[in-house]
Amino acid sequence: MQIHLSRPDITDNEIEAVCEVLRSPNLSLGPKLPEFEAAFADYIGTKRAVAVNSGTSGLFMCMTALGIKPGDEVITTPFTFIASATAVMMAGAAPVFVDIDPASLNIDPAKIESAITENTKAVLPVEIFGNPAGFDKVCRVAQQHNLPVVEDSCEALGSALNGKKVGTFGTMSVFGFYPNKQITTGEGGMILTDDDSLADICLSLRNQGRSKGDNWLTHERLGYNFRISDINCALGITQLSRIDQIKSKRRQVAEWYRQMLADDERIIVPAEQQGCDMSWFVFVVRLADRFTQEQRDRVLQEMIKRGIQVGNYFPPVHLQPVMVRRYGYKKGDFPITENVCKSTIALPFYNNLSKDQVTTVSAALKDVLDNI
Ligand SMILES: Cc1ncc(COP(=O)(O)O)c(C=O)c1O
Repeated sequence: MQIHLSRPDITDNEIEAVCEVLRSPNLSLGPKLPEFEAAFADYIGTKRAVAVNSGTSGLFMCMTALGIKPGDEVITTPFTFIASATAVMMAGAAPVFVDIDPASLNIDPAKIESAITENTKAVLPVEIFGNPAGFDKVCRVAQQHNLPVVEDSCEALGSALNGKKVGTFGTMSVFGFYPNKQITTGEGGMILTDDDSLADICLSLRNQGRSKGDNWLTHERLGYNFRISDINCALGITQLSRIDQIKSKRRQVAEWYRQMLADDERIIVPAEQQGCDMSWFVFVVRLADRFTQEQRDRVLQEMIKRGIQVGNYFPPVHLQPVMVRRYGYKKGDFPITENVCKSTIALPFYNNLSKDQVTTVSAALKDVLDNI
């Protein structure tokens, strides 16, 4: 028996939509690209959307479009997937980490101000695991200092805070569509903004530095091939049309886990915070403080031995070898992040995970904890 950490949810409609593109003459830069962008902008409620080939390239393009360059600093969180920070580095700038709020696991808005220097050019907060808590406060601090916010919403499609959708908080925001995400395009991402000039720069960066109306072989700026094919876009359009259903399926799985695990004092289960409408990305539990990192690691190994895929989402970004080598970050720099990271266990989580599977995973976790 294997229970996977994540699995895509692909129906016959998705397969038919992809096949339709395969039968057409336009595998890339065809009609599905603007259709996906329009549907996405409409769902989130922004003026513009630019579809790209990954969340990572989307974040990098935001940095470039905002003019972020070597010598600049961008404030972000050390509790995230590495790409939030490496996108800053790709633009030649330095990520400056600020510790997290232990309740939301998002960047702590109260700590941002003290990290701002004359070199700070943007704030890049992340809705970790789909949680939008604190984003109103993050934006308020950034606004007071005239700093643009690049919202890393890669994990949070469908979440909202006090009725305001994730993806509308930042000057620019980015979603990701890797297969473990709420919706997938195989690989892909989306940049959103209300600013026409930023969106136009992204269109150009995506397509080899070409500008609107230019001759195909005129290249105005240093550009890239960050295009997403119509095959991927067709998949994205169909997935997006089911987002409400997807969100409620994931909510149900999260609810089953909560029912089965919340009464065990060894396990801290994630909760939806006040004002948050959470679109669940993953279900990450934490072990109580008395457990060591070594014990957590043994739990992960034991679960995997039993055929249940689990993960340590995430190790601290500031302690990744590349960050230590380049910037000299060290253990103890961000104690709240480090304390959370030593205790996390991402459990299997996807749309069609059954109640029986959730029961199996929950029972296995309790049994493993009984024996470590
Ligand atoms: C928070 C966060 N930022 C950025 C990314 C990068 O997205 P992608 O894998 O599409 O490049 C991911 C997804 O993996 C993510 O979870």
